[in-house]
Amino acid sequence: MAPRITVIGTGYLGATHAAAMAELGFEVLGLDVAQEKVAMLSRGEVPMYEPGLTELLRRHVAGLEGSTGRLRFTTSWEEVGEFGDVHFVCVNTPQKHGEYACDMSYVDAAFTSLARVLRRPALVVGKSTVPVGSAARLAALLAERSPAGAEVELAWNPEFLREGFAVEDTLHPDRIVVGIGGVGGERGEKLLREVYAKPIGEGTPFVVCDYPTAELVKTAANSFLATKISFINAMAEVCEAAGGDVVRLAEAIGHDDRIGRKFLRAGVGFGGGCLPKDIRAFMARAGELGADEALTFLREVDSINMRRRSHMVELAREAVGGGFLGRRVAVLGASFKPDSDDVRDSPALNVAGQIHLQGGQVTVYDPKGMPNARRVFPTLGYADSAAEACRGAHVVLHLTEWAEFRELDPVALGEVVAERRVIDGRNALSPREWQEAGWTYRALGRPT
Ligand code: UGA
Repeated sequence: MAPRITVIGTGYLGATHAAAMAELGFEVLGLDVAQEKVAMLSRGEVPMYEPGLTELLRRHVAGLEGSTGRLRFTTSWEEVGEFGDVHFVCVNTPQKHGEYACDMSYVDAAFTSLARVLRRPALVVGKSTVPVGSAARLAALLAERSPAGAEVELAWNPEFLREGFAVEDTLHPDRIVVGIGGVGGERGEKLLREVYAKPIGEGTPFVVCDYPTAELVKTAANSFLATKISFINAMAEVCEAAGGDVVRLAEAIGHDDRIGRKFLRAGVGFGGGCLPKDIRAFMARAGELGADEALTFLREVDSINMRRRSHMVELAREAVGGGFLGRRVAVLGASFKPDSDDVRDSPALNVAGQIHLQGGQVTVYDPKGMPNARRVFPTLGYADSAAEACRGAHVVLHLTEWAEFRELDPVALGEVVAERRVIDGRNALSPREWQEAGWTYRALGRPT
């Protein structure tokens, strides 16, 4: 019989994973401790903006018209223990307040609650991004606290999905990495090969390793991506000083296969709930292990990234004549990247916030991120459209590259602003089009 699956934690990762498992044909039970989330998901509603997820969910949530009925949600740990053969733990590991290290309290709480209800053989699969060494500790916790004891196994199976592409990345991952423990680990591997039979059958590489390697694969991958972005942003700084064009430079070096063209978009830098906190947590963990020197370069990666934001504020200040008082600034973008409503550590919102705190009258517009932005930064001005945000503006900042912003008509927009000045913080607008419409176009790392 096919294994029955539970998914613990129904954020971006968990909600998508639960729906994807149902899509692969399994019976799935999702658990969240937040009652309102469970109620929403049970109605087929997704608590965040993620393209394609609502449709996927509705295809499977029990009780909805025309659904397969394979997917249910609960707040009951007892039900989870009784139902599942394979338990995926997908809770988040945010950055600790005021520290670099990540906050393991949600993971620890989830494992503790789960252990208590494991009364028969089961495989627990950790998917959260955790400091290396956590899996071994959590395996010991499960062995000690589960009534089923040695019949409970742990595998570590990091997730590489990108927000905005969560459904696609989960159904068609580019690799599956599985960390297994000592004795009995192969049983876990076998079960996961069964769960992931479809992607494996489609040619997805299945990499088996030990716990620490699996944990490190995740942080190494995110550190590499962050480094790539900061590298090109460092080149943008040099281009600005030397009069070069970082967009052409990125294109030219990217033709070398060994470098590759992806993740070389210079701009206001990376944000979100993963890259920034993952590189910091990695440095903190390396410090604990006595290997901090190996990762000192990540400190530089982080500071290049944060410098992008202050540089953007500087350019905006220059553009409005040297000071923000009495100046209107339009900010296009609030989410940390397009096709997401996530504003966690968003460069756009950070820049908007800095200008606001320096006395500028900031008006923000984002196609999907407004409710979250309003919640975390209620004192900023918000508008219902890009044109509204730009009304009377002395400078327009383009900070999240939504397709909608690329399609803006600079001629029409030129009629509503006080001054035709735009700074393209994502190098995504067409300089020629804006200049032809009479705008002063400025971008990061490109000649003006
Ligand atoms: C990232 C990784 O890409 C995923 O593989 C990983 O699973 C995920 O973190 C995670 O750890 O959960 P995500 O945070 O959704 O995914 O977003 P990315 O697409 O990686 O973008 C991160 C940030 O980098 C965004 O702010 C984006 O605007 C910025 N970025 C990206 C650039 O500034 N330049 C680029 O060339 C690419």
